[in-house]
This record gives sequence, C-alpha cells and structure tokens, in this order.
Amino acid sequence: KRRIGVMTSGGDAPGMNGAVRAVVRMSIAQNCEAYAIYEGYEGLVQGGDMIREMGWEDVRGFLSEGGTLIGTARCKAFMERPGRLNAAKNMIIKGIDALIICGGDGSLTGADKFRGEWPGLLEELVEKKELTAEQVEPFKHLNIVGLVGSIDNDLSMTDATIGCYSSLGRICESVDCIDATALSHQRAFVIEVMGRHCGWLALMAGVSTGADYVFLPENPPSENWEAEMCSIIKRHRDLGKRKTIVIVAEGAHDRNLRKISPLHVKTLLTDTLRLDTRITTLGHVQRGGTACAYDRMLATLQGAEAVKAVLEATPDTPSPVICMVENKIERRPLLQAVKQTHEVAEAIAAKDFDRAMGLRDAE
Ligand code: F6P
Repeated sequence: KRRIGVMTSGGDAPGMNGAVRAVVRMSIAQNCEAYAIYEGYEGLVQGGDMIREMGWEDVRGFLSEGGTLIGTARCKAFMERPGRLNAAKNMIIKGIDALIICGGDGSLTGADKFRGEWPGLLEELVEKKELTAEQVEPFKHLNIVGLVGSIDNDLSMTDATIGCYSSLGRICESVDCIDATALSHQRAFVIEVMGRHCGWLALMAGVSTGADYVFLPENPPSENWEAEMCSIIKRHRDLGKRKTIVIVAEGAHDRNLRKISPLHVKTLLTDTLRLDTRITTLGHVQRGGTACAYDRMLATLQGAEAVKAVLEATPDTPSPVICMVENKIERRPLLQAVKQTHEVAEAIAAKDFDRAMGLRDAE
C-alpha cells in the first residue's frame, strides 16, 4: 500500500485541520495509508513518534477545530542538508514517498527543493551506511503536493488560500465591535491587520466594513497622503459620520518604503482633525478560531485533490500546488506560483507599484 505523509507548516491557518482530515480520509478511501507528520518539518527531521499513521477515526472532529492539531513549526534544521538527510531517512524507515504539505510559499518551496535533492540524499544515506541499497530501492521518486494554508491570501495563481476568509470574517467581526464603541464616543480608530507583504486582508476588510481609509503595501498612498487622508476623513465627518475607521496593513509603507505606523496615523487624526483616536492591533485573534464554511469546503476539496495528484504523478510531473481558480479546484506548477508571488514582492521592493498592482490583478 502506498504511504502518504501529510503535514502543516509555517503559520497556522483556520482550515488546516480540514485539509489534514481530507488527506487522511481520501488516502484511506484510495486504498493508501496516511501518516501525519507532527510539528511540520521538525517532525520529519526527528522521525520516530513524530510520524504517526492516521486512521479514519483519528481525524474525527477536525473540520470544526481552529489552528492545526498536528502542530506546526518554523524549522531551522530542515533548511540545512543534514536535517534534510535525516528527514529522508525517516521517510524511508516509515515507507513514505509522498508528502502533502499545507503551508505558505516558504514551506512549499522547501518541499520542492527536498524533492529535487531526493535521489542524492538516498545515495548519501546508502554511502554512509545509514540505509541499505535494498531499503531505498522502492523509493526512487518523491512526490510533493502543496496546499496553500495562510490567512494572508498571498500566493499567486490561486483565488483564495485556506484560512483567508476565516481571518477576513474575524477582522470584520472585530471592526463591527470597534464600530459600536467608536460610534458611541464619536471616536476614530486606527486598526492594524495582518497580511505580511500582502494587502488582501486590509483591502477586503476595508471594503467589507466601509472603512474611511486603507493602507496597503502594493498600492502606497500619494506623496501628500497625510493631507489627503485628513481631507477625506474630514469630508466624511462633515457629512455626518460619527466614527472613523482607518485600516493599516501590517506591511504598509509610503512610496519610499517607509513604514506607515498606526501611531503616526493616530497623531495626524488627533493633531490635525482633533479626533479622539485609539489604536487597535488585532494580532493573532485574526488567525485563531474556527474555520468559516468556505475554508472548510476549500480545505476538503483541495485535500482530496492533493491525494489524487499524488496518485497521478509521474517522475516528470512538476510538483503541483492545489489552487482555486474561478471557483474550480485546479492544479498549478508549484514553483511557478511561488515565483510569481516573489515577483510581487520584488516589484514592491523596486518601488514599481504599478507592476505590483498589475501582478495582483492578474492573479
Ligand atoms: O503568514 C501569516 C501571518 O499571520 C502573517 O500575517 C504575520 O505577518 C505572521 O504570520 C506572524 O507570524 P508569527 O505568528 O510568527 O508572529
């Protein structure tokens, strides 16, 4: 029976458990064995009890749990060759030659690199007499399939990453709560949201809550944004608005890449517009909690598709990442998706914001 490993890696995201459940159950339904690798790559490097076979019942209740029940970690050891050598050895010992990884772009690139090194790692293990030629013989090729789990919705080629809609929902609920108190006191709130280098959460939260102003990394405001923002907010107040909401993406900066700090925005609102202003950093509240229905569905359909992708892979198939494209679950070349994602970051770093926006639009 084919043995398929599943792990979650990088920052947790709501829906990751649903993905693990789908991979485990689809593997069993396809007459394969499923293994959970605990604590991300750390579990692969350590082996032993960190790699456990999962039965149908072991993932009961996973759909409605937040975070990742099999754990995750940012693992330094896997970034070095000796760590990957250990990982390869542990996989052979367990008889696993396919990995489905649910994580962000960094975790998925690491996996593809591992696949590229695979035959060499096995040869080295035989040379070092850690394994015998007979042991490695049946495991010539490693299959890698990526599932994008991240609240940031920052991977190119997919419309939604597992977790982003749960996080967006949580942000909207939080802004609704803040709205009530802001309205009561006629206050202004500067709300910082997550998203690393991606402004999707901030932009969609702004649209969904009717925020007065939004700061995004991909589309920084004009040079005289301070005056512009104040005049927009003043206009809203003059029209009778009793509250002000400004959303700042954590990666937001001006056109010279100087960080836009919530404190600076607060000072402007206080000093220029005389608004009683508070800052709220939503932090990890927006990452935890249960997955919304969309993320449960996305995780389930994509997890099942990932197992199919493993079973249909040939040695020449590039590692795929399972995407959502115009409401359809589709496979895309993992490395190309990561490359396109990095191009956005490069365009931002080069202050080519038109290109950054164009690339985001094209996604
Ligand atoms: O990638 C998910 C994310 O939550 C980002 O939005 C944020 O920048 C980062 O992870 C926070 O990481 P940590 O939990 O390690 O502080």
